[in-house]
Amino acid sequence: MQIIKVKNYEEMSVIASSMLVEHVQQNESPVIGLATGSTPEGLYRSLIAEYRKGAVSFQGVTTFNLDEYVGLNKDDATSYQFYMNQKLFDHIDIPEEQIHLPNGVSEELQQDCTDYESNIQKAGGIDIQVLGIGLNGHIGFNEPGTSFLSRTHAVELTASTREANSRYFSSLAEVPTQAISMGIATIMESKKILLLVSGEEKAEALYQAINSPLSEEFPATILQLHPEVTIIADELALSKVLESYDESESAFEIKELQMK
Ligand code: F6R
Repeated sequence: MQIIKVKNYEEMSVIASSMLVEHVQQNESPVIGLATGSTPEGLYRSLIAEYRKGAVSFQGVTTFNLDEYVGLNKDDATSYQFYMNQKLFDHIDIPEEQIHLPNGVSEELQQDCTDYESNIQKAGGIDIQVLGIGLNGHIGFNEPGTSFLSRTHAVELTASTREANSRYFSSLAEVPTQAISMGIATIMESKKILLLVSGEEKAEALYQAINSPLSEEFPATILQLHPEVTIIADELALSKVLESYDESESAFEIKELQMK
């Protein structure tokens, strides 16, 4: 596990973007796992800027998103498909058929979850999975208590996650109660994981993710077992980790990256 410490949200976004751009430039058919929420918005803005500069093309890229709400179709402004179109896909040259999100309005939900898994396999697996972290340690929409062996599945959202995400809806009552999420085992099969964490609000979650014993009650602890995790976190998000960090005793390394 490697931690890259950056000053703020902007630096986190630009550094994450440069890692993805480099991967896309160096590979013919890269497969990238994407997340929604506030955390990757700056990353997507930076990817669009790189595309507009002509630094990168997404023609060969295949994407798989982590999750989608159940009951929202893709034209619904609060669906994750809509978010992704608006924040990234509509502004770059990725072919539509190479974009994948779970189908929130499927009538064959179980079959669709199985197909989602096999589509990831057919694409050769995910090279780099971008993750954010929930306040309760969720990754994707894998809430506390989800099996570490889980595959793409339907989940009940917890009250705290619905509350945190209600900012995108006109009222809490409108936040769906279920979602479809890539499973934890699916996420762990990604060749590389890029976890982005910004802000003081996430300091406790990040601390627990990397220091607490592995527990399905705090799903992000599983990342401690992945051989290729890079965490890009800003100073505020790292504040609690740094309080007790001892380089000689830690299982992870913190590297400071300063932008030019
Ligand atoms: C989003 C996702 C979630 C978010 C997490 C953090 O696709 O899978 O796990 O990454 O809820 O959300 P933000 O970034 O809004 O704090």
